Amino acid sequence: MEPIPLALTYDDVLVVPRRSSFISRTEANIKTRLTRRLSLHIPIVSANMDTVTESEMAIALARLGGIGIVHRFMSIEDNIEEIKRVKRAENFIISEPYTIQGENTIAQAKEFIEQHGVSGLLVTSIDGKLLGVLSGRDLLFARNDTSPVSDVMTPRMRLIVGTNTTSLEEARHIFIREKVEKLPLVDTEDRVIGLITSRDLEHHINYPHANRDPRGRLVVGGSVGVHGDYLERAQALIQAGVDVLVIDIAHGHSDIMFRAIEKLRAVCGDTELIAGNVATAQAAYDLCEAGVDAIKVGIGPGSTCITRIVTGCGMPQLTAVMETAKIAKRYNIPVIADGGIQKPGDLVKAIGAGADTVMIGGLFAGVHESPGVIMSRDGKKYKIYRGSASFAVAQRRKAIHQEGKDLGAVVAEGVESVVPYKGPIEELLREFIGGLKSGMSYTDSHTIEELQHNVSFIRITHAGLRESGPHDIHDIH
Ligand code: XMP
Repeated sequence: MEPIPLALTYDDVLVVPRRSSFISRTEANIKTRLTRRLSLHIPIVSANMDTVTESEMAIALARLGGIGIVHRFMSIEDNIEEIKRVKRAENFIISEPYTIQGENTIAQAKEFIEQHGVSGLLVTSIDGKLLGVLSGRDLLFARNDTSPVSDVMTPRMRLIVGTNTTSLEEARHIFIREKVEKLPLVDTEDRVIGLITSRDLEHHINYPHANRDPRGRLVVGGSVGVHGDYLERAQALIQAGVDVLVIDIAHGHSDIMFRAIEKLRAVCGDTELIAGNVATAQAAYDLCEAGVDAIKVGIGPGSTCITRIVTGCGMPQLTAVMETAKIAKRYNIPVIADGGIQKPGDLVKAIGAGADTVMIGGLFAGVHESPGVIMSRDGKKYKIYRGSASFAVAQRRKAIHQEGKDLGAVVAEGVESVVPYKGPIEELLREFIGGLKSGMSYTDSHTIEELQHNVSFIRITHAGLRESGPHDIHDIH
């Protein structure tokens, strides 16, 4: 038998410091790539798990420079709605604003506004000409719900409008000068061609590092499996506007994955495809050859995973990232280090080992923007976090997809737990991004690429690990 090689994970190593030219860690540029063509301002992705990423998480993370991958453990209709919510959260210019006709009643307008979650409507004639703007304030003082909206709207003659050449800067001046919140855009015949809102502009100013698509909408990912309705779901998600699709199965280096890639390629056009999870050089090679746009790496490092215990299979995550990244770099395909990130230093090590981004589950399950309610126990706050392969999820999946015959057919490779509530994601990210930038300054790396080039790891002992955390002091709590 061949000698057994050693594999390592984050806690087994430290990054060796080197002489630095940094004056401040703010000099570090952490822009990176999620996939072949999709760039991110920060190398952070939220996991496609039902207790981690739905629209609220995806909106928050895209605004802060990362991206959320919405999970798939819901009906296709709900999945579409979650993606659309992210896509509707922000626009440069709303190219197809919601409109209503002048003769519609106030009651109809109220219902429409409630249904679509908007603050007002443009009022148009049957041939699309602008007749007025109906705001929430106009409706507030409307006495008779059966009156036509034209009775209470702000009429065309009192509106300030823009055209197809109005820039965002001009719009900003108009909002400040005229104290209006909506700027309808019209063509030479006064037909509505778009809308700019002060709320969208405010988001652009407040979130300068947000990741947006060419239409100014926040970026978001969707996920699919390799069985059942996956092709239908993929097509629906693409239509809803996803920027990237993750094909996510526990053992991504398998024939069913390659079949799925082929079929998805045929229906997905040029949508970016991420495939995983894998943990070996051979798997990375096969996925690169199959033409994926990024590889998701991690067999068993996740905080809820018991794959390694149940199956005896897996690969310590640092080695998995190093092995796969070595191959993926040759193909210029990014690697996502998925699972096992607990501390900011793990992020530095993952990126240093060759990952372009990291995917986070457990840490994000506890933030305000994750799905689920906050629970209190002994005066402390918690949220639920469960492995996608835990029984609870398997059961829900079964109910939705009518998969399997009896519970004995489902093997749990994940657990369900509670994680401490951590408040808004922004605070947690500040800590992680600060750590990454500091790590880059310790290695004199101004970019992610430089970090990957400059990094040199040193293996540590258990005593070294103990020395790395707070030790031999008394906790004041
Ligand atoms: P963290 O450590 O951030 O890891 O919580 C998140 C990643 O864990 C993976 N995952 C699972 N792995 N059984 C597994 O073996 C599971 O039930 C399970 N659920 C999630 C997944 O890759 C996720 O992104």
